[in-house]
Amino acid sequence: MKFLIYRYDPESDKKPFMQTFELHSKDVQPGMMLRDALLKIKSRDETLAFRHSCGEGVCGSDAININGKNGLGCLTALSSLKEPIEVRPVPGMPIIRDLVVDMSQFFHHYRAVKPWLIVHDSEPEVEYLQSPEDRDKLDGLYECILCGCCSTACPSFWWNPDKFRGPAALLQSYRFLADSRDQATEERLEDLDGPYRMFRCHTIMNCTNVCPKGLNPSAAINNIKKLMVKDMV
Ligand code: FES
Repeated sequence: MKFLIYRYDPESDKKPFMQTFELHSKDVQPGMMLRDALLKIKSRDETLAFRHSCGEGVCGSDAININGKNGLGCLTALSSLKEPIEVRPVPGMPIIRDLVVDMSQFFHHYRAVKPWLIVHDSEPEVEYLQSPEDRDKLDGLYECILCGCCSTACPSFWWNPDKFRGPAALLQSYRFLADSRDQATEERLEDLDGPYRMFRCHTIMNCTNVCPKGLNPSAAINNIKKLMVKDMV
Protein backbone atom coordinates (compact mmCIF):
# COMPACT_ATOMS: atom_id res chain seq x y z
CA MET A 1 0.00 0.00 0.00
CA LYS A 2 1.44 3.33 -1.08
CA PHE A 3 1.34 6.55 0.98
CA LEU A 4 2.38 10.07 0.10
CA ILE A 5 2.92 12.01 3.30
CA TYR A 6 3.49 15.73 3.74
CA ARG A 7 6.78 16.45 5.45
CA TYR A 8 8.06 19.74 6.72
CA ASP A 9 10.38 20.54 9.55
CA PRO A 10 10.80 24.34 9.61
CA GLU A 11 14.10 23.91 11.44
CA SER A 12 15.77 21.83 8.74
CA ASP A 13 13.68 21.92 5.51
CA LYS A 14 13.72 24.84 3.09
CA LYS A 15 10.23 23.91 1.90
CA PRO A 16 7.62 21.18 2.38
CA PHE A 17 7.76 18.00 0.30
CA MET A 18 5.74 14.79 -0.11
CA GLN A 19 7.50 11.61 1.01
CA THR A 20 6.57 8.17 -0.28
CA PHE A 21 6.14 5.25 2.12
CA GLU A 22 5.02 1.71 1.34
CA LEU A 23 3.41 -0.83 3.63
CA HIS A 24 3.56 -4.47 2.53
CA SER A 25 0.41 -6.56 2.55
CA LYS A 26 1.66 -8.45 5.65
CA ASP A 27 1.64 -5.11 7.53
CA VAL A 28 -1.95 -4.32 6.60
CA GLN A 29 -4.59 -6.20 8.59
CA PRO A 30 -8.29 -6.22 7.68
CA GLY A 31 -10.17 -3.35 9.31
CA MET A 32 -6.98 -1.35 9.82
CA MET A 33 -7.39 2.40 10.17
CA LEU A 34 -5.19 5.13 8.73
CA ARG A 35 -3.91 6.01 12.22
CA ASP A 36 -2.61 2.43 12.59
CA ALA A 37 -0.83 2.75 9.25
CA LEU A 38 0.76 6.05 10.32
CA LEU A 39 1.97 4.39 13.51
CA LYS A 40 3.53 1.57 11.47
CA ILE A 41 5.21 4.14 9.22
CA LYS A 42 6.44 6.03 12.27
CA SER A 43 7.98 2.84 13.66
CA ARG A 44 10.21 2.90 10.56
CA ASP A 45 10.78 6.65 10.48
CA GLU A 46 10.48 8.07 13.95
CA THR A 47 10.92 11.65 12.68
CA LEU A 48 7.35 11.63 11.26
CA ALA A 49 5.24 13.90 13.47
CA PHE A 50 1.47 13.61 13.88
CA ARG A 51 -1.00 13.94 16.75
CA HIS A 52 -3.19 11.16 18.04
CA SER A 53 -4.37 9.81 21.35
CA CYS A 54 -7.59 7.87 21.94
CA GLY A 55 -7.84 5.92 18.68
CA GLU A 56 -11.62 5.96 19.07
CA GLY A 57 -12.86 9.22 17.55
CA VAL A 58 -13.17 10.85 20.97
CA CYS A 59 -10.15 13.08 21.64
CA GLY A 60 -10.22 14.86 18.27
CA SER A 61 -6.44 15.19 18.06
CA ASP A 62 -5.76 13.36 14.78
CA ALA A 63 -7.55 15.59 12.27
CA ILE A 64 -5.66 15.40 8.97
CA ASN A 65 -6.35 15.90 5.29
CA ILE A 66 -6.79 12.51 3.64
CA ASN A 67 -6.89 12.32 -0.15
CA GLY A 68 -8.07 15.93 -0.19
CA LYS A 69 -10.75 15.67 2.50
CA ASN A 70 -10.43 16.42 6.21
CA GLY A 71 -11.06 13.54 8.58
CA LEU A 72 -9.80 11.62 11.58
CA GLY A 73 -7.02 9.09 11.00
CA CYS A 74 -8.49 6.78 13.64
CA LEU A 75 -11.94 6.61 12.01
CA THR A 76 -10.78 6.29 8.41
CA ALA A 77 -10.50 2.69 7.22
CA LEU A 78 -7.60 2.04 4.84
CA SER A 79 -9.98 -0.04 2.75
CA SER A 80 -12.06 3.08 2.01
CA LEU A 81 -9.12 4.97 0.49
CA LYS A 82 -7.74 5.16 -3.03
CA GLU A 83 -3.99 4.71 -3.50
CA PRO A 84 -1.63 6.40 -3.28
CA ILE A 85 -3.08 7.65 -0.01
CA GLU A 86 -2.16 11.32 0.30
CA VAL A 87 -1.93 12.59 3.84
CA ARG A 88 -1.47 16.28 4.57
CA PRO A 89 -2.02 18.56 7.55
CA VAL A 90 -5.48 20.15 7.74
CA PRO A 91 -5.44 23.21 5.46
CA GLY A 92 -5.15 26.86 6.35
CA MET A 93 -3.32 26.41 9.65
CA PRO A 94 0.28 27.28 10.56
CA ILE A 95 2.44 24.14 10.36
CA ILE A 96 4.46 23.19 13.41
CA ARG A 97 5.94 20.06 11.85
CA ASP A 98 4.75 17.48 9.30
CA LEU A 99 1.06 16.79 10.09
CA VAL A 100 1.03 18.82 13.30
CA VAL A 101 -0.60 22.25 13.03
CA ASP A 102 -0.90 25.15 15.44
CA MET A 103 -4.48 25.11 16.79
CA SER A 104 -4.12 28.28 18.93
CA GLN A 105 -6.35 30.43 16.73
CA PHE A 106 -9.01 27.70 16.59
CA PHE A 107 -9.14 27.46 20.38
CA HIS A 108 -9.10 31.24 20.72
CA HIS A 109 -12.40 31.34 18.78
CA TYR A 110 -13.77 28.44 20.81
CA ARG A 111 -13.08 30.22 24.12
CA ALA A 112 -14.46 33.49 22.70
CA VAL A 113 -17.99 32.07 22.36
CA LYS A 114 -18.01 31.28 26.11
CA PRO A 115 -18.74 27.58 25.77
CA TRP A 116 -20.26 27.17 29.21
CA LEU A 117 -23.64 27.75 30.84
CA ILE A 118 -24.25 31.35 31.84
CA VAL A 119 -27.00 31.76 34.44
CA HIS A 120 -27.90 35.14 35.92
CA ASP A 121 -30.46 33.90 38.49
CA SER A 122 -29.18 32.73 41.83
CA GLU A 123 -27.92 29.16 41.80
CA PRO A 124 -30.49 26.44 42.54
CA GLU A 125 -29.90 24.48 45.73
CA VAL A 126 -29.46 21.16 44.01
CA GLU A 127 -29.18 21.31 40.24
CA TYR A 128 -30.34 23.09 37.10
CA LEU A 129 -33.38 21.19 35.91
CA GLN A 130 -34.19 20.57 32.27
CA SER A 131 -37.12 18.74 30.69
CA PRO A 132 -36.34 15.69 28.51
CA GLU A 133 -37.73 17.62 25.52
CA ASP A 134 -35.36 20.54 26.11
CA ARG A 135 -32.47 18.14 26.65
CA ASP A 136 -33.25 16.56 23.27
CA LYS A 137 -32.60 19.93 21.61
CA LEU A 138 -28.90 19.55 22.45
CA ASP A 139 -28.52 16.33 20.44
CA GLY A 140 -26.33 16.91 17.43
CA LEU A 141 -24.62 19.82 19.21
CA TYR A 142 -22.92 18.56 22.35
CA GLU A 143 -21.12 15.69 20.59
CA CYS A 144 -18.50 17.93 18.96
CA ILE A 145 -14.98 16.72 19.82
CA LEU A 146 -13.22 19.93 18.66
CA CYS A 147 -11.06 18.14 16.11
CA GLY A 148 -11.25 21.20 13.84
CA CYS A 149 -12.02 19.23 10.65
CA CYS A 150 -14.91 21.60 9.93
CA SER A 151 -13.28 24.96 10.55
CA THR A 152 -10.12 24.02 8.64
CA ALA A 153 -12.22 22.90 5.65
CA CYS A 154 -13.94 26.30 5.48
CA PRO A 155 -12.64 28.88 2.97
CA SER A 156 -14.10 31.72 5.05
CA PHE A 157 -11.98 30.50 7.97
CA TRP A 158 -8.85 30.32 5.77
CA TRP A 159 -9.37 33.89 4.59
CA ASN A 160 -10.34 35.43 7.94
CA PRO A 161 -8.72 33.22 10.56
CA ASP A 162 -8.50 36.02 13.10
CA LYS A 163 -12.03 37.41 12.65
CA PHE A 164 -14.42 34.63 11.61
CA ARG A 165 -15.27 32.35 14.53
CA GLY A 166 -15.53 29.33 12.25
CA PRO A 167 -18.05 26.47 12.17
CA ALA A 168 -16.77 24.60 15.24
CA ALA A 169 -16.98 27.63 17.55
CA LEU A 170 -20.35 28.64 16.09
CA LEU A 171 -21.76 25.15 16.63
CA GLN A 172 -20.64 25.45 20.25
CA SER A 173 -22.23 28.87 20.51
CA TYR A 174 -25.54 27.46 19.30
CA ARG A 175 -25.16 24.51 21.69
CA PHE A 176 -25.52 27.06 24.55
CA LEU A 177 -28.07 29.27 22.79
CA ALA A 178 -30.24 26.15 22.42
CA ASP A 179 -29.85 25.19 26.07
CA SER A 180 -33.01 25.99 28.07
CA ARG A 181 -30.86 26.58 31.18
CA ASP A 182 -28.68 29.27 29.63
CA GLN A 183 -29.65 32.92 30.25
CA ALA A 184 -27.15 34.74 28.04
CA THR A 185 -28.99 34.64 24.71
CA GLU A 186 -28.80 38.39 24.12
CA GLU A 187 -25.13 38.70 25.01
CA ARG A 188 -24.24 35.72 22.86
CA LEU A 189 -26.16 37.05 19.85
CA GLU A 190 -24.77 40.55 20.27
CA ASP A 191 -21.25 39.20 20.34
CA LEU A 192 -21.76 37.39 17.02
CA ASP A 193 -23.29 40.37 15.23
CA GLY A 194 -21.25 42.26 12.64
CA PRO A 195 -19.70 41.36 9.29
CA TYR A 196 -17.12 38.79 10.41
CA ARG A 197 -17.68 36.66 13.49
CA MET A 198 -20.64 34.73 12.09
CA PHE A 199 -21.80 36.48 8.93
CA ARG A 200 -18.60 35.51 7.12
CA CYS A 201 -20.30 32.11 6.73
CA HIS A 202 -21.47 31.80 3.12
CA THR A 203 -23.12 28.38 3.58
CA ILE A 204 -20.43 26.63 1.55
CA MET A 205 -21.24 23.50 3.64
CA ASN A 206 -17.70 22.06 3.65
CA CYS A 207 -18.02 21.95 7.44
CA THR A 208 -21.02 19.64 7.39
CA ASN A 209 -19.54 17.48 4.62
CA VAL A 210 -16.39 16.67 6.58
CA CYS A 211 -17.58 16.41 10.21
CA PRO A 212 -16.42 12.96 11.38
CA LYS A 213 -19.18 12.88 13.99
CA GLY A 214 -21.93 13.56 11.44
CA LEU A 215 -22.82 16.94 12.98
CA ASN A 216 -24.21 19.88 11.05
CA PRO A 217 -22.46 23.17 11.91
CA SER A 218 -24.06 24.81 8.89
CA ALA A 219 -27.57 24.18 10.30
CA ALA A 220 -26.43 25.47 13.71
CA ILE A 221 -25.20 28.71 12.11
CA ASN A 222 -28.51 29.03 10.30
CA ASN A 223 -30.34 28.59 13.60
CA ILE A 224 -28.26 31.37 15.17
CA LYS A 225 -29.23 33.64 12.28
CA LYS A 226 -32.91 32.82 12.89
CA LEU A 227 -32.52 33.68 16.58
CA MET A 228 -30.99 37.01 15.60
CA VAL A 229 -33.93 37.85 13.36
CA LYS A 230 -36.34 36.87 16.15
CA ASP A 231 -34.39 39.03 18.57
CA MET A 232 -34.82 42.04 16.24
CA VAL A 233 -38.61 41.71 15.91
FE1 FES B 1 -8.60 10.52 19.25
FE2 FES B 1 -8.66 10.03 16.58
S1 FES B 1 -7.07 9.56 18.02
S2 FES B 1 -10.10 11.16 17.77
